[in-house]
Amino acid sequence: PTPLDEKGPTEVAHAAAAFNEMQKRIAEYLKERMQILAAISHDLQTPITRMKLRAEFMEDSVDRDKLWSDLGEMEHLVREGVAYARSVHGATEASHRINLDAFLDSLVFDYQDMNKQVSLTGKSAVVLDTRPHALRRVLVNLVDNALKFAGSAQLEVGSTASGELSIKVLDNGPGIAEDELQQVMQPFYRVESSRNRGTGGTGLGLAIAQQLAVAIGGSLTLSNRPSGGLCAQIKINL
Ligand SMILES: Nc1ncnc2c1ncn2[C@@H]1O[C@H](COP(=O)(O)OP(=O)(O)OP(=O)(O)O)[C@@H](O)[C@H]1O
Ligand SMILES: [Mg+2]
Repeated sequence: PTPLDEKGPTEVAHAAAAFNEMQKRIAEYLKERMQILAAISHDLQTPITRMKLRAEFMEDSVDRDKLWSDLGEMEHLVREGVAYARSVHGATEASHRINLDAFLDSLVFDYQDMNKQVSLTGKSAVVLDTRPHALRRVLVNLVDNALKFAGSAQLEVGSTASGELSIKVLDNGPGIAEDELQQVMQPFYRVESSRNRGTGGTGLGLAIAQQLAVAIGGSLTLSNRPSGGLCAQIKINL
């Protein structure tokens, strides 16, 4: 957030100063909350690992399997919690120049290697100065959603009418109701029906993707495709 200019007539200057002070305190408060979330998430990792070890040595039984899958779920939640907290106070990763086409090729190849239906169309011929891990994470979260909710994902790279770099992650799944397109980017928000489809998740994937997209100087927007399915578009100024 940019502070207000504290010049001008006395009353205005006072109001601006008070406003700036408040803005600063809110920012500090948010940061502290995120640090608490990160600390708790992080500290939970050790006991969960210990419990998994114990479960591993238990006799085979239905209960053991249930315990094992609950622990797996907790582990995922904690990992996502840490990632979310990190993504909020901006990635600390250094910037690098990457060949975008090669970068996307290797991402897609990794999925294909695991027998996942992910494809790439278009070429950007762009050398991008960015934080590769953050960008990768954004894309992985979007592709994982497409795979989970639609079974396959198509990446499409190109540019927008106003000359920004555009990377789209497209799928042919059910899409998201128009009035929920904004909400799904909120942490922990999941479309109700998705809970009943055996598609477990924490509801942090999109929140993280959005924070990181902003952290690398881009944006993330969701829309439904005219043909059905979701379009998640990352735009980055070149
Ligand atoms: N490609 C998609 N098609 C249809 N619905 C989607 C798609 N991507 C996301 N959603 C909806 O948005 C919700 C939020 O997505 P998000 O990635 O934040 O969480 P998640 O996938 O449920 O869990 P997580 O990513 O934390 O494992 C999902 O639960 C789902 O209801
Ligand atoms: Mg997800």
